[in-house]
Amino acid sequence: MRPTGKPKDPRFSSGPTKKRPGWSSQSLNIASLGRSHRSSYCLERIHHLTGLMRHLLEIPENYQIAIIPGSCSAAMETALWSFLGPRPVDIVTFDVFGDLWAYDILHELKLQNTHILEAPVGHLPDLSKVHPAHDLVFTWNGTAAGVVIPHADWLHPHREGLVLCDAISAVFAMSFPWEKMDAVAFSWQKGLGGEAAHGMLVLSPKAIERLNTYTPPWPIPRIFRLTKEGKFSQNIFQGYTINTPSMLCIEDCIDALSWGMSLGGLPTLIARSRYNLQVVEEWVAETPWIEFLAHDPRTRSSTSICLRFIEAPDDWELPKAIAALLEKEGVAFDILGHTSSVPHLRLWGGPTIEPSDMKALLPWITWAHKEVT
Ligand SMILES: Cc1ncc(COP(=O)(O)O)c(C=O)c1O
Repeated sequence: MRPTGKPKDPRFSSGPTKKRPGWSSQSLNIASLGRSHRSSYCLERIHHLTGLMRHLLEIPENYQIAIIPGSCSAAMETALWSFLGPRPVDIVTFDVFGDLWAYDILHELKLQNTHILEAPVGHLPDLSKVHPAHDLVFTWNGTAAGVVIPHADWLHPHREGLVLCDAISAVFAMSFPWEKMDAVAFSWQKGLGGEAAHGMLVLSPKAIERLNTYTPPWPIPRIFRLTKEGKFSQNIFQGYTINTPSMLCIEDCIDALSWGMSLGGLPTLIARSRYNLQVVEEWVAETPWIEFLAHDPRTRSSTSICLRFIEAPDDWELPKAIAALLEKEGVAFDILGHTSSVPHLRLWGGPTIEPSDMKALLPWITWAHKEVT
């Protein structure tokens, strides 16, 4: 039967993701537009953003926060280029972005003493093999495979190596063990439904110590440089961004952070995302032809919810046809899975998605499945 109700908002893309409920360009403060980002007014807005970010994400007081050009990708590259080299590096990879970081470490930085811990799509590598004396590079939530690291118990609390984490599709939607992290990269275009192109880099005191005591052997482009004359550039972490940010994007991010705070902060955002996953889990449990890509239920991501068709696990035609039909019906936009992965549908379940919309979408997938098979 063709369902009667549709999701109020058909946007289920995994990035840029849907904006917060009730978002309007009219609600953005535009007083900073056309002003120098170094003016005291704009600096105050940048501080407001980083302050809200610290508060909402519960980032420890002794960690430093910077806005970095080039979104999460450049924030992560900044970390790789700035910190790696003095110790062996463990690279944990279980989806496309982990593979990209591994490639750059092996083939761009050309580091020799590396250990790759990898897993096939839908699985996590054996995390007990991570060595506490090595630096570690990994992604917390694999956006392209729907697999998430469920906890940080495997990370030694007093490890000697640094922990560099791509947390883009985890923060704002999952509890995150900041105290075990040293350099964390993310951007605004996932959990917050914010604009693209600006990255965040959050550093622990241990990471800053590395910047003060280690200079990589390779040249570091200015856009990735966190030091001045071999010492940590505090300015970058005090609102003096490396280059010119978009004040419009900053205002949009402040709007999203304020929304998160107004709901009650991180616990509410996490609960919204968890509820989206729960809604899908209930539907999958009663639908015989679909399953999660994540093999172990504890590793199911609540943001990038990846589902594959049991009857055609290697065939892109089925998810393609369903995604196209639902887009045509105005029910769901951009739900075809990431092409680097195995064939699947991917539903974004982050906190800006209304669980009522997720609920409304699922009978449409059942309907579309019948229509195209
Ligand atoms: C796990 C992961 N890392 C990094 C990125 C890149 O993010 P950005 O486009 O903000 O650089 C993405 C984007 O989807 C991602 O899913």
